[in-house]
Amino acid sequence: MVSKQLRVVVTGAGGQLAQCIKHLDANFNHLFYYKDRKALDITDANSVKTVLDALKPHVIINAAAYTQVDLAETETDAAFAVNERGVANLAAYCSENRVKLIHISTDYVFDGASSRPYLESDATAPQTTYGKSKRAGELAILEAAIPAFWIIRTAWLYSIYGKNFYKIILNLAQSRDELSVVNDQTGVPTHALDLAHFILKHIPQLNPQNSGIYHFVNSGQASWFDFAQAIVAQNGLKTKVIAVSSAQYPTLARRPKFSVLDNSKLQKTFNYSIRDWSTALPG
Ligand SMILES: NC(=O)c1ccc[n+]([C@@H]2O[C@H](COP(=O)([O-])OP(=O)(O)OC[C@H]3O[C@@H](n4cnc5c(N)ncnc54)[C@H](OP(=O)(O)O)[C@@H]3O)[C@@H](O)[C@H]2O)c1
Repeated sequence: MVSKQLRVVVTGAGGQLAQCIKHLDANFNHLFYYKDRKALDITDANSVKTVLDALKPHVIINAAAYTQVDLAETETDAAFAVNERGVANLAAYCSENRVKLIHISTDYVFDGASSRPYLESDATAPQTTYGKSKRAGELAILEAAIPAFWIIRTAWLYSIYGKNFYKIILNLAQSRDELSVVNDQTGVPTHALDLAHFILKHIPQLNPQNSGIYHFVNSGQASWFDFAQAIVAQNGLKTKVIAVSSAQYPTLARRPKFSVLDNSKLQKTFNYSIRDWSTALPG
């Protein structure tokens, strides 16, 4: 059966995930429209309506977000403007125009105090302004009557695009003999191309029955120290990676100690196997 060609709008087109989606989209038979912040500012409800009315999408992938975790502590309004009110604009448009929505959220909606991977059904308790603004965006979607939606929580994204831990460590390791990296925060390094592939492959399956929240992270878990060590080893470098505690690296926004997301709901629902973070590492 030939599946229907869908019109798909991707917001936040200048960002890491959107660029990963674009990187892979030629393998998928849909019409993609990429809109960066200049072309479509999601905080501007009029612009949302004008741009989307002209494109008549079947599906919107919202990869736009305020992602500066530390700066959000002092720019609260800017974070909520994008991550709550911008998302609410898209949700209202989707609800009024019967458009499906794929939205990306974060492990920061949890408090980081768990000792086992977080399930979609676990209580949220964001500890940072960024996390609170992202949770507010989730609620805006859950409260809107959107015909079909996925809220996909992910974490520790990296790729060849944008600014991310992988690229920072690789750059530093190429010029230094030693690197200090925190060893007391645990999560899951997640290749943004893996997330992009999952999304692209499953767009035609988005329907009211499978609407809801899903966790997409690579399988397994690691500390930032483990991740850095693997990056160094994978790239054949000799840099010594030294484990330090987060107390030695204070940041404005306190990072969750443990933010491993359980991805089994997504794997079961879509019969889709997500590879281990260590296998996903390029090099
Ligand atoms: N990166 C991670 O480790 C991580 C972890 C967990 C969850 N996530 C979530 O994953 C999603 C994708 O993240 P990413 O890594 O691709 O982030 P990113 O590289 O920072 O991309 C976000 C994009 O959104 C754009 N944007 C900001 N405000 C906007 C607005 N008002 N209207 C339209 N676009 C706007 C940004 O443009 P400017 O550059 O012009 O501001 C940027 O191009 C986000 O929802 C993020 O919260 C990311």
